[in-house]
Amino acid sequence: MNARQTFFRLLLVLLFFVSPAAPLLKVGPGAGVARAASRTPARARRGMVASTDRTASRVGVDVMKRGGNAVDAAIAVAFALAVTYPAAGNLGGGGFMMIRLRDGRTTAIDYREMAPAAAHRDVYLDERGELKKGEGGSLVGYRASGVPGTVAGMELALKKYGSGKLSWAQLVEPARRLAAEGFPVSYGLARSLRANAKDLGLYPETKRIHLNGGRFYEEGQVWRQPELAATFTRMQRLGAREFYEGRTARLIADDMRAHGGLMTLEDLKGYVAKERVPVRTTYRGFEVISMPPPSSGGAVLIEMLNILEGFDLRNMGASASERYHAQTEAMRRAFADRAEYMGDADFVKVPVAGLIDKSYAERLRRGISMSRASTSAEVKAGRPAGAESEETTHFTVVDAEGNCVSNTYTLNDGYGSKVVMKGTGILMNDEMDDFAAKPGTPNMFGLIQGERNAVAPRKRPLSAMTPTFVLRKDGTLWFAVGSPGGPTIINTVLQVITNVIDFDMNIQQAVDAPRIHHQWLPDEIVYEPYGMSADTFRALESLGHRLTQRPRYMGDAHGIMIEEGTGVRLGASDSRNYGESAGY
Ligand code: GLY
Repeated sequence: MNARQTFFRLLLVLLFFVSPAAPLLKVGPGAGVARAASRTPARARRGMVASTDRTASRVGVDVMKRGGNAVDAAIAVAFALAVTYPAAGNLGGGGFMMIRLRDGRTTAIDYREMAPAAAHRDVYLDERGELKKGEGGSLVGYRASGVPGTVAGMELALKKYGSGKLSWAQLVEPARRLAAEGFPVSYGLARSLRANAKDLGLYPETKRIHLNGGRFYEEGQVWRQPELAATFTRMQRLGAREFYEGRTARLIADDMRAHGGLMTLEDLKGYVAKERVPVRTTYRGFEVISMPPPSSGGAVLIEMLNILEGFDLRNMGASASERYHAQTEAMRRAFADRAEYMGDADFVKVPVAGLIDKSYAERLRRGISMSRASTSAEVKAGRPAGAESEETTHFTVVDAEGNCVSNTYTLNDGYGSKVVMKGTGILMNDEMDDFAAKPGTPNMFGLIQGERNAVAPRKRPLSAMTPTFVLRKDGTLWFAVGSPGGPTIINTVLQVITNVIDFDMNIQQAVDAPRIHHQWLPDEIVYEPYGMSADTFRALESLGHRLTQRPRYMGDAHGIMIEEGTGVRLGASDSRNYGESAGY
């Protein structure tokens, strides 16, 4: 190379590094990712809904176009999902709605199911003290259900935080129409119904409605649900209390009585949704606000974030073994505390303040070595001061004014207890399995839970649902996110948050990036198919970790981020599933 060629090469290299593209070309493990192998988020100037079902997302957008706010839209989305996404969308289940109003007020609506009055600590044990399986147990059948909270939760949210521009009946109407007129079954729904045919086929009403009497629904076939439509009509005419005290309640109670269920008319009448104070922390200066008990989600998330704040994740790299190691050790400790300390705080003492305290996290962090994995046998719960089907669903809504809803709700297992209440079209939850049916024995998710989460009449089972907000340093909303996935929910939300804050990912990239999960017991890191390189696997193994590949992906996160400078709403529906964000 002559002197002239050398000069031009040097000039090119120089230009390259002072060009606007230069920041995108940082190399090394901690380099921020500008355009990851991920689709770009949906963009909208006014309102956005990110959910697992395209039809439901559009229902929410329609509500906002007609003058409704994010809360109004969320209510209509929740009811629409009860029709179009019956695995988890529901009237017969419960969940948590986090609301952040444009003026900064933030609140949490707890509409978690409540145990029927006839439930007690040993209700799911047989004469030998063993967990009952099948009908009569906590997973399928008439005795598996807690008293549903969704209708009461939506009513409370509307009364306190709705725009006042749209009525209850107007917000129920899109769901009623979808149930009455039908909708084309998507590929995902047709597949899911078939995959669950064995259990759904156990109950004649469920088989008739959800399996088309055993003939199944094909992709594109129009599915009508007239009983469910009639239930919505009663709710429109007589309000939310109709579900708890009217004909719907009587139909549920009668069917329960006829089949040995626990739930009575009195239980339904006694259901109350509650407003709770969210839990908060800061992570690297950004405020994180999440769901308090009876969900463990917010407290466990915060405990993990507090521990991880002491590690330089950015320099470790997004998919590096070091990051996964630090994360795993934080997960192990926080899930050990979950097992020991968490339950319905209306019934048992839960040391939330101690669990989310930064100095407690610092003490836990000191016990983490970067050169060796701890074992879950040695990591018992700390001393703070003072949930394979994962068919929960999450959606996020932001309206034109900047109000935001982050809502996770569920029937627990896919299609809940698998029982449709005769004459209502309503699939019931199997949320009673989220209690520790036998404290110390793993539940459906392999989660060990303690006495604090034992079954008791009118108690709410401990949840892992983690609808969350993250604020910018100026106190404005940055993004909101949540996910299904039983216990993996909390770790999914954790990883989305650290992907954004530590690795500069946009909301779609953060949602799409591979995830890992550790829940203290069993003592193993689970990773997604194609979610970990062989090198990273070996590096983690050499630290002493046990690793297992999950049979399928983890979570189905749906988040919305407010773009800095423009205020554009960026909608991210998880690429792992069939969801779609819609905006206007
Ligand atoms: N049913 C799953 C959860 O509430 O965590």
